[in-house]
This record gives sequence, structure tokens and C-alpha cells, in this order.
Amino acid sequence: MITNTELEYKGNLYPNQIVQFTQDTDKLYFTTNNGVVLQITILRGSVIRFRYATNYNFEPDFSYAIDPKSTIGYSKLEVEENDTEYIISTARVSVLVDKKTLRTQISDLSGNIICEDELGFHWEENYEYGGNTVKMSKIAQAGECFYGMGDKAMHSNLKGKRVENWVTDQFAYGKDQDPLYKAIPFYIGLSKGNAYGVFFDNSFKTSFDFSHERRNVTSFWADGGEMNYYFIFGPDMAGVVSSYSSLTGTPEMPPMWALGFHQSKWSYYPENNVKEITKQFRDLRIPCDAIYLDIDYMDGFRCFTWDKNHFPDPKRMISELEEDGFKTVIMIDPGIKVDRDYWVYNEALENDYFCKRGDGPLMQGKVWPGECNFPDFTNPAVREWWAELYKEFMTELGVHAVWNDMNEPAVMEVPTKTAPLDTRHNYDGHPCTHRKAHNIYGMQMVRATFDGVKKYVYPKRPFVITRAAFAGTQRYSSTWTGDNVATWEHLWLANVQVQRMCLSGYSFVGSDIGGFAEQPDGELFARWVQLGIFHPFCRVHSSGDHGDQEPWSFGTEITDIVRKFIELRYQLLPYLYTMFYKYTKENMPMIQALVYYDQEDTQTHFRTDEFIFGEKILVCPIQEPNAQGRRMYIPKGNWYDFWTSEPVEGGKEKWVAAELDMLPIFVKAGAIIPKYPVQQYVEEKDIDELLLEVYYKKGTESSEIYEDANNGYDYKKGRYALSNYKLTGKEKSLTIQLFKDGSFETQYDTIRLNFHGLPFAIDTVMLDNEEVSLRNLSEIQDNILQIDKDFSLLHITGKE
Ligand code: GLC
Repeated sequence: MITNTELEYKGNLYPNQIVQFTQDTDKLYFTTNNGVVLQITILRGSVIRFRYATNYNFEPDFSYAIDPKSTIGYSKLEVEENDTEYIISTARVSVLVDKKTLRTQISDLSGNIICEDELGFHWEENYEYGGNTVKMSKIAQAGECFYGMGDKAMHSNLKGKRVENWVTDQFAYGKDQDPLYKAIPFYIGLSKGNAYGVFFDNSFKTSFDFSHERRNVTSFWADGGEMNYYFIFGPDMAGVVSSYSSLTGTPEMPPMWALGFHQSKWSYYPENNVKEITKQFRDLRIPCDAIYLDIDYMDGFRCFTWDKNHFPDPKRMISELEEDGFKTVIMIDPGIKVDRDYWVYNEALENDYFCKRGDGPLMQGKVWPGECNFPDFTNPAVREWWAELYKEFMTELGVHAVWNDMNEPAVMEVPTKTAPLDTRHNYDGHPCTHRKAHNIYGMQMVRATFDGVKKYVYPKRPFVITRAAFAGTQRYSSTWTGDNVATWEHLWLANVQVQRMCLSGYSFVGSDIGGFAEQPDGELFARWVQLGIFHPFCRVHSSGDHGDQEPWSFGTEITDIVRKFIELRYQLLPYLYTMFYKYTKENMPMIQALVYYDQEDTQTHFRTDEFIFGEKILVCPIQEPNAQGRRMYIPKGNWYDFWTSEPVEGGKEKWVAAELDMLPIFVKAGAIIPKYPVQQYVEEKDIDELLLEVYYKKGTESSEIYEDANNGYDYKKGRYALSNYKLTGKEKSLTIQLFKDGSFETQYDTIRLNFHGLPFAIDTVMLDNEEVSLRNLSEIQDNILQIDKDFSLLHITGKE
């Protein structure tokens, strides 16, 4: 047993015995003899906040991560005390606070220990900067696994790893390299079937050690600020992710075109090159909704300007592209070129909007345009100004969306790759240095961008992309995994990173398909597209240094394969759109790692490759060259092979054939998957019929489909169509009940049901209790049925 006094010589300080306890409604305060105050806030029965002050002194309570709209409320809160501890009981957990050490222990209502302090809170005074290095150590349970933490390019289970959160421009990063572009200090622990989450809401550099230094200890610490974390009890991982998402927020519905296929390169210019690319998409009939303009559209890399030689009339070009079904997405970086003849620079200078160094000079650093100054996006006045800068782009020129890059902020030619630590920030009225503001700088930039884009594309919906992010950034922007490399290992990484981000509350994410650095061969490109079409954000992007990376750059065989899979994404748009709806409304991650899908099955705890797209489609990418298939794990339940409709039983490994034009895809039994016809871009066609792929199941399964006007805000006034299909399959019959919500009228009047796996030949069809004559329905032989979209009950019986 290590005593506190023994450890103090290492510079660590510890709370000692509690001398006072007070309660203020949902807040409990425990004060120790040496001036530590633990504030416990009960946000919900399963969400509890722990905050520690030293010298009796809390900092102002301010967080960029927490969604101001997050809802809280608990039903039960009781505090008891005995000789050795305080016992706090909520409707879901009980928390013990040790009177001698202030250590805590959280158990579920059956007495299972879920999360227990080892040394608990301790700290080291920081003589250089002031304040403390704040630390927490907890006992890692035997067999405990760890997930989440944003974009870490590591095995999905973080057991045995130590990671750091400091957003970093990490060009061509490698497997296990850390830190990368995002800081999401949130992890999920899973042991003995119980999952819980810890969100350490501290924007300083944070570190997490998952049984790396000591086998039975998990610890986390920050270079400053407060020990301020949220404990979230599951016991299901779904509950943990949902509560975390509710705390830090989810985005609003994006325009549907943002879920289409996007093409990017550094850079497409001049105008006729952009036009050649978009024309090629249409000529080759490869669906695409957006074309990206990287930094070279600017005049000398000055943000909010155009290179008039390459783009003489951006307004005309953007509108011509729009007529052809393309949205134009432009890049904006944070560095503003130091240039007395540049209006953005002058405005920022005159208004004192740039970040300053400790002793007063402007913070200066090199990025693409050369020497730059950097707006302090943590100042609300600067964010307002920045938002206004988009006015001309969005309203006059018709730009559709904005891509924020280099917002870590990335600074070139300095070893730290970023702003000096003495750089000062407003931090919304809580002045601080870059040590505290670094991790949220990019987030505040894209927040300002989002505000401006949203305001000026109104009444349309905004779409924004960011590279740097902190917890909560998902409220404002989609994101991608940064500068990856065209290797098979990076295809594996893209898969793991996207799953991890989705578990970390950030679902609108994708990778640079094909790889940013270096050049993929056709096979790697095709395999990457096959994975990428199942990522919420689906964009090909490359550095352009090594050759072309368009769908047709690798010969006709690859072009045909790529087209086939992009077409599949477009067919699945109503399914994907519904996934997004469930993400925004129900905090459900758009992609489920297998451990999320079935945490009780220990097989899933170390699996990285397979994932569930939405709730019903199991996908397993091919991640090796020359593969004709692969072994994969089919999780619990009954499934159908997507291509052959053959039934497959879960809970076991299976070898699945997948030549280059195939990918292992399975659909959950009982699922009803909506499909649109292939379109070259969203809203190219009127949808005159919705296809529903119905997968028979013995038993009951519900499927939802969400539709609205694909853009705009009418859906907020109830003009959406939410259809809940409840399928019940029996030996000789199948029933589908339809419950509808919302007042949106879809374009189509009929739906076409395509039945898979029916164990009987259709004999009779009853629609809302009236028999449908089958004489004219020749298609019934193929198990296809066309009916009115508005029905309540469909009942099919099989031949005896
Ligand atoms: C950064 C971005 C990359 C972009 C390039 C040029 O490397 O991550 O996507 O193409 O800058 O703007």
C-alpha cells in the first residue's frame, strides 16, 4: 500500500481528510483539510460530473465542448454517511467518497464496481506557468478494454496504450503515430459486460494511459486547468455514446447532397480543368455531387480572394457547375497573409483581431502565403467578423460550402508545427495562453465559419468541413482524417479511425479516399472506394503530386468497379439520410464498431475490420492486395448476403468471396432497406417510387425511414416523413405494419417491395384488410409487390 506522504516527495500532492460536506441541490461539495474541494454534480442518474479545486478555488465554469442545449435531469439523489465514507445514490449508480482520501468508487445498483479511484485525484504545482498539472488514476479492472478517443490511428482497443491529445498537423502520419489532428478526451471502458465512459473536459494538452505504465491502472492528466470529468454509466456502450453525444452535441441535418460522392484534389485549376473533371463524371455516368477547390483558387493564398487568371468569373463558373448538378466547396485557412494591400488583413489589424504573443507583438508564422497572422477565433467579436467574411462568397458568388484546413493552427518551419505557447487568447472572456487554447482553436474557427455559412446560405442548410477538432466540434462541422497515405495500411487505418470517431460522438467523418500522399494503384483505389462509400463523409482527395486520382484514372475495369459502388451509395441515400437523422435525433453513431453492436460477445472486443453501417448493414472491407475474399466475423443474429440473398447465421467466422468488384456486405434479417434509383447527383430525378428491400425474418424487426425536402428548414416545422415499418415473419406469413409521423409529402405515391428470403411462395396479399388481386401482378413470382405508399397493414400469406 502506497501512502500519500510517500508519494509527496515526487512532487505530487494529494487531498487529505474531508472536513466539510455541503449540498446545493444537484451539487455536492466535499472539502478536505488541505483545501481540496470535490464538486460532484448529478446531471442524470447515469451521468455524474467530478470537479476538483485546490486551495478552495474553482475556476470559472466554462466549456467549449459541452452543448448548451444538452438536457439534464435526475429522479433520485440521496446522500448518506458512515464512519469512513459518504454514499451518494442515484437511480442508476452509487458513488462512495472516502472520508480520509477523497477517493471515489462508483458501482451499479447490483454492487458491481464500475469505476474506482486508485490514487484518485492528485496534482503537481506548475512553477513555470502557474496552476497545476492535474492527475487522476483509476484501477483498471481485469480484462478491461478501452475504446473511443477520436482519431487515434491505432488498434480500436486502446488497452496497453498511452495517448496524448494535442491537435497536430501530421502529414503522412503512420500507424500508432500520436497525436493527430483531433483532441477528443473521451474514452469508453468495458469490463465484465459493463461499459462506462469518461469525458475529461479540459482543453490543455491531456494524456491518457490505458494500463500501459502499470497493468492495473488507467490514468489521465492535463498540463493545466482543472480535473474536470464526466462519468457516464452504460451499462450498454450505446447508452454511453448516446449520453456523451447528448452532452457534447450532434449536428443538424446536412443538405442531402453532402452525403453524396465528392471529388477533390490539391488543386483543380484553372476553370477549364475543373470543368473537364466535372464533365468527365457526367460523360462516364459516375455520380458526384461536389467538386472542391483547394488553396490554388485564391490569389496568392489570400483567403476570401480569387486568382482571376485561373478563375476569371467564379460566379458564372459556380452557377454553371450547379446547373450540371455540382456543388462547389472552397477552402479557407486560418492564416491571414501579412500584406498591407489586403483588405482582410487590414480589417483584422485595425480591429485588433489577431492573436498576440505574451509581450504584445502579433503572433506570426509561415503558412502557404508566407508570413501570416492568425485571428483569435476564441474572441466572440472575431468570430462574428469571420462569419461576415463569407457573405460575398455565399450570397454573391453562390459558393455552396466551406472547407477549413490547417486550423490546428498549422505553422510551417517551426519544430512545434504550431503557434508558440505564449500566444494569448481571449477564450470567450477567460484570457489564457495557447497552452489552454491550442486544442480548441480550430474548433472555434470552424464554429465561426459554420455561423457565417449558415447565415448566408439560408434558407438552404450549411455544410462545412474541418481538419482540427476538439470534443463538441461535431455540432458545427464534418471532418476528415487528414493527410493519409496511399497504402494498404492506411486503408486499414481509415476504417479504424472512422469507427473510432463514430464511437467518440463524431459521425460525420471520412478519409481521403485513395490516400492523400503518394499514388494508389487501381486495386487499392477500388478497395478504398468500396470502404469509403460506407463512410458518412465520402470524398476522394489527393495531394495531386503523383498523378491523377479520379475514378477513371486507373483504366476501365477500375472505373466500372468504382461506378458500381458509388451507384450503390446513391441507391442507399434514403438509408444513409435516415442514419444521419438517427444520429442527430437519437445520438446514435452512424457506424457501429462490432463491440458496440454486441459488447457481450468477447469476440468483438478486439475486432477492427467489420462494422455495421447504420443499424442493419454489415460491411467488411478488403484490406489486402490480390484478395479473392477474406475471413471475417459475422456477429450475432441472422443475416443475408447482400449480393446473393443467401441466409447466413451470425456468431461465427466465415470465409467470404470478394473478387475485386465485390465486397462482403450482409443485411440483418428483418431489415427493410430503402433505395432510390441511381442518380448522377441528389435531386437529379424525381423519385417516382421508393424501393424497399425486405429481408424476411422469423420474428419481429423495426426499420425506420426518414425523408424530408433534402435541404432547408421546413422539417423543423414538422414537414418530414418518418415511416416506421414493423415486420413480423411467421412460418407461412409476413406482416408489415406502417406507422407514420410528420407532414411531408414524398414525391412518390407507390412503394415497391422486393422480398428476400421468403420461406414460402406468396398466396394471398391483404392490404389494410382487403385482398389484393394477384392476377395482374405478374411480378409476384419474383417476390416483388407494388403498393400504395400509405397503408397501415400489409399481410402476406404463403401457399399451404
Ligand atoms: C493540407 C490538407 C490537404 C490540402 C493541403 C493543401 O495538407 O490536409 O487536404 O490539400 O493542405 O491545401
